[in-house]
Amino acid sequence: EQRTPFIAGNWKMNLDHLQAIAFVQKLSWSLSDAKHDFSQVEVAVFPPFTDLRSVQTLISADKLELGFGSQDVSQHDSGAYTGEISGNFLARLDVQYAIVGHSERRQFHGETDAVVGAKAAAAVRHSIVPIICVGETAEDLAEHGPSAVPVAQLREVLSSLSADADIVVAYEPVWAIGSGKAATAEQAEQVCSALRETLVELLGEERATATRILYGGSVKSENIARFMREPNIDGALVGGASLAIEEFSRIIQFKK
Ligand code: G3H
Repeated sequence: EQRTPFIAGNWKMNLDHLQAIAFVQKLSWSLSDAKHDFSQVEVAVFPPFTDLRSVQTLISADKLELGFGSQDVSQHDSGAYTGEISGNFLARLDVQYAIVGHSERRQFHGETDAVVGAKAAAAVRHSIVPIICVGETAEDLAEHGPSAVPVAQLREVLSSLSADADIVVAYEPVWAIGSGKAATAEQAEQVCSALRETLVELLGEERATATRILYGGSVKSENIARFMREPNIDGALVGGASLAIEEFSRIIQFKK
């Protein structure tokens, strides 16, 4: 396999720091009981900012193989930006990944592709891998078809990055998020393959082949294998189902 499959759990605004500690402990016990091989399937959790320190302490103290990242990052490195979190602070907490451009940020916080690009660039400046989220709404789908909007979003965000930046792309159809109505594997593959072609065009064959593209939107243990069988889907960005330890463990241990 060219690309290591990657299962990412986006907690969104759930679990306070004590719950986060208990959750990470139980998840790591569950994966260790199952003899999970992290070199075969990479796993990371994305807690709220206020949990990052606790999660980092636990992971480093117990030498867990679990990775972790933030749900957002400021486009600025420091200064008068009340409420923002710098990539510098995140890097100092060993944060490996930062989700940028999640549809909930685009929708509720007015983030444009230009802002998402600036955030991705900020992550890269601090050696944090941005997970660049793209996806269409139901209206976009009806009006423009399946790939046009996600591809346009990816082009715009990548215009802020150098071609050698290490990135992950996440395709999340907005209509499938939290709806219980996942895309079919064929629908998701169609868009992910268009995203892969865009990566080839903009970054070159080698980087495009090495870059992981995740699917997100109502992923569960019962549908993960279908997505993972598709050639251009390299993992999942899991929301709701990442908050239930047994269910998330089952997703991580998918069998194709
Ligand atoms: O970041 C995760 C996605 O928004 C998917 O959320 O699995 O609850 O549909 P969901």
